[in-house]
Parts: sequence; C-alpha cells; structure tokens
Amino acid sequence: MIIAIIAAMDRNGVIGKDGVLPWHIPEEMEFFTQSTMGHIVLMGRKTYESLRIKPLPGRISMVLSRDKSCQVAEGVLLFDNLEQAEAKVMEIVQGRQMVFVIGGRELFEEYLPRADYLYLTKIEASFEGDAKFPDYDHQEWEEIRSQRRSSSVGIDFSTSISIRKSAKEELLAVYGKL
Ligand SMILES: NC(=O)c1ccc[n+]([C@@H]2O[C@H](COP(=O)([O-])OP(=O)(O)OC[C@H]3O[C@@H](n4cnc5c(N)ncnc54)[C@H](OP(=O)(O)O)[C@@H]3O)[C@@H](O)[C@H]2O)c1
Repeated sequence: MIIAIIAAMDRNGVIGKDGVLPWHIPEEMEFFTQSTMGHIVLMGRKTYESLRIKPLPGRISMVLSRDKSCQVAEGVLLFDNLEQAEAKVMEIVQGRQMVFVIGGRELFEEYLPRADYLYLTKIEASFEGDAKFPDYDHQEWEEIRSQRRSSSVGIDFSTSISIRKSAKEELLAVYGKL
C-alpha cells in the first residue's frame, strides 16, 4: 500500500475555515480530481461532511469517525479506527494502488509520519482560516514534480509531488515511477 497525502494550502499553511475550504479555485480542484481519480480516498468525518458530492465519483471513499452513530451515504465505507480502515485498504488495493489521504488536519497529522508521497498545492494568496496543514520536516522529502499554474479566478498556485527520501529506493524498485 502506498500512502499519499494530498492537500492544498495558502501561503501561510491555511487549509480550512469553518469546516470548509476557504477558496474556490476550479483549476486547483481539477488537480485534486485528476490525482485521486480511480484511487481510494481516506478522510476524516469533518472533511466528509464538507463534501458537496458524496461519495466522490470514480473513487472509493473511506471515512473515519469514532462516533458510533455516524451516518454516511450509500457506497461510502465507514471505519472507527485506522487499523480497520487500513485492513480494508489492503484488501482492496492488491499491490500497486495508492491510497490518498485527503484531509482534514487531523488525518494529515496522523498520516504525515507514514506517508510515501505528498501532493501539495500552494496557493499564492492569504486567507482567513482555523485549520492549518501540520508542520513537517521538509528535509525528509524530495520534490519530483512541480508546476506553476494560473486560474480563472485570478489566483496563481503551484502543484508539487514529493517522495519521502528514506522510502524512495524501495518505492521505485517495487512500484516504479509514478
Ligand atoms: N485544503 C485542504 O487540502 C483540505 C482538505 C481536507 C479538509 N480540509 C479542511 O480541514 C478542515 C477539517 O479538518 P479537521 O482536522 O477539523 O477534521 P477531519 O480530519 O476532516 O476529521 C476529523 C474527524 O475524523 C475522525 N477521526 C480522525 N481520526 C480518527 C481515527 N484515528 N479514528 C477514528 N476517527 C477518526 C473523527 O470523527 P468524529 O468526530 O466523528 O469521531 C474526527 O473528529 C475543514 O476546514 C476542511 O475544509 C482542507
């Protein structure tokens, strides 16, 4: 199983406000959609609740909640702990497939120490927010792809993919290039 974190943040690391994204940038959403399409997406209950379309089309949606009364839409897989969720991922992935951890802050924090890839969007603007991407050691990561992009709403952003240096050799040997 390959774990990839995918997140978008403003120039101060802000990722959310009042339970939703602080921005609406269609081209940024496109990067998210293209990257995650066909894969498993794992998210916290609060991020799940913030989605406009449930489940996300073309992906297997997995949600974590400790609340036994939590309800999810048909087709969404619900788990009350990481171990259970990961056992299901292993059952589904059969080797090569990536699981994308799509947020929010709590899930990013839980998976940053173990992630193999970081798919990050950096938005070149500042927003008000109450959730930030957790601090992490940039030295542990090697950027393998990056691109600057502009958007139809006048906000530029860049996307990048980084690989964990300590896992690089094994990932490339076992799974090949992305
Ligand atoms: N910019 C981005 O890339 C991005 C992406 C996603 C989300 N966001 C933003 O991030 C914010 C939400 O982040 P958040 O940290 O507040 O919430 P979250 O990570 O989306 O969800 C947290 C919830 O997930 C459940 N959970 C987490 N770890 C668990 C575990 N190990 N076992 C069982 N359940 C677990 C708990 O649900 P229960 O409370 O039900 O037990 C917990 O309250 C929103 O503003 C959202 O818009 C931004």
